[in-house]
Amino acid sequence: MDLREAIRTTGSVRDFRDEPVADALVSSVLDDARFAPSGGNRQPWRVALVKDHTIRRQLAAIMQPVWDEYVAAARTGTAPFNAVYYQPPTERMHAANALLDNIDRIPVVLVVAADLRRISAMDGSLDRIAVVPGASVYPFCWNVLLAARERGLGGVMTTFLSHVEPEAAPVLKLPDHHALAATIFLGYPLHQPTRLSRKQVEEFASIDSFEGVPLV
Ligand SMILES: Cc1cc2nc3c(=O)[nH]c(=O)nc-3n(C[C@H](O)[C@H](O)[C@H](O)COP(=O)(O)O)c2cc1C
Repeated sequence: MDLREAIRTTGSVRDFRDEPVADALVSSVLDDARFAPSGGNRQPWRVALVKDHTIRRQLAAIMQPVWDEYVAAARTGTAPFNAVYYQPPTERMHAANALLDNIDRIPVVLVVAADLRRISAMDGSLDRIAVVPGASVYPFCWNVLLAARERGLGGVMTTFLSHVEPEAAPVLKLPDHHALAATIFLGYPLHQPTRLSRKQVEEFASIDSFEGVPLV
């Protein structure tokens, strides 16, 4: 499909048709996604295609409290798991989640890990959380979603599992020095989003400095 249209309309899909996706199709998606850039071209990604239903349910159970906390935090008006200031909510609740509740029926569950020995943390010694290391794996994740779209699939990248990596690691036999970057759910969409809500260019781009006049 047209590249501009793909970039502008590839929204999150969390509800899928009850139609299987062949392993060969998933493999072909990854075969396109692997052309993603990474620092030093070190390609740190590893992928587990999780088909086993026992493992899927274990992962959903591990992710559920993270979603519960996300929703409880959002209710208090704070950005859940905010990178600068975050106070976990005191409220305990159970929140429904289409992905976790239906994990048995989701056509494709991919867990993407990153080999940290292949990632340079260029901002790793600053007095804030590091942002740059993730940039060696998330272009790959996004390529998975774009390549899926090209095949009529839809999906969503999620990060709940990263919050509980120590619990998920033994379930997935995560190798040493690897981080869980994302869990990507894919399938044939029940509905394909076409209009995405995003800020306008002048709201985030400016001339010469971040205080400069807006770029229009
Ligand atoms: C780094 C990252 C983490 C995300 N984590 C989650 C997640 O844990 N659960 C989820 O349902 N969606 C997750 N998403 C999807 C976002 O919610 C989605 O991209 C955003 O709300 C825009 O919505 P739209 O794609 O429907 O326009 C994540 C997306 C990114 C890029």
